[in-house]
Amino acid sequence: MELTVGITGASGTIYAHKTLQLLAASGVVEQINLIMSGTAATVAQVEMGVNLKDPTVPKINEWLGLAPESRLIRFWRLDNLAAKPSSGSHKQAGMMIVPCSMGTLGAIASGAGTNLIHRAADVCLKEGRKLVIVPRETPFNAIHLENMLRLSHAGARIMPASPGFYHRPKSIDELVEHLCFRILDQFDIPHSKRSVWTGEEVES
Ligand SMILES: Cc1cc2nc3c(=O)[nH]c(=O)nc-3n(C[C@H](O)[C@H](O)[C@H](O)COP(=O)(O)O)c2cc1C
Repeated sequence: MELTVGITGASGTIYAHKTLQLLAASGVVEQINLIMSGTAATVAQVEMGVNLKDPTVPKINEWLGLAPESRLIRFWRLDNLAAKPSSGSHKQAGMMIVPCSMGTLGAIASGAGTNLIHRAADVCLKEGRKLVIVPRETPFNAIHLENMLRLSHAGARIMPASPGFYHRPKSIDELVEHLCFRILDQFDIPHSKRSVWTGEEVES
């Protein structure tokens, strides 16, 4: 399977990091087209203390704990509108934007995108491919909410970065992982089954 992952400048770099690691470990993903916005690198520096300015594949492999020679990640510059994910003629499973800022959300919802993340998302919508958007902001204003509804109507799956607690997470890692599992579920990508609710008797 080949898919595209966009990382933007919303809070929650940790979700992108964990999602990429789970995709790498899934055994079914052969290529990840990775695109990062400039602000995504700023947020990554603030939140994870990692320098992803001018990213290269070796730098990203190191960040993800992948072997230096791994060819799983294919990195595309944000201004490269001639990149593979920019064309509908290039077939792939779809795209996830993790986390998604309100700026990127608005650009995609308006259909007037200007960078490769916007274009790749637009391509998924027009080709009827999966587009999973993980927006993060709080509180949402009416424009954010309308943009999410618009994208949902256009076929995107909106998965706010609001993790559940019913699996009783013991760490931030478990909290984060739970949401990332649900993101992988949208593509039927295998992972540990810890996020599957099997039912429970609760006294009323
Ligand atoms: C540390 C930090 C945290 C941010 N958190 C958010 C956020 O949670 N949601 C959001 O919509 N924007 C957030 N922003 C603002 C966006 O990064 C900004 O609007 C940017 O222009 C988005 O561009 P992009 O979508 O191309 O990454 C944050 C910025 C910084 C520096």
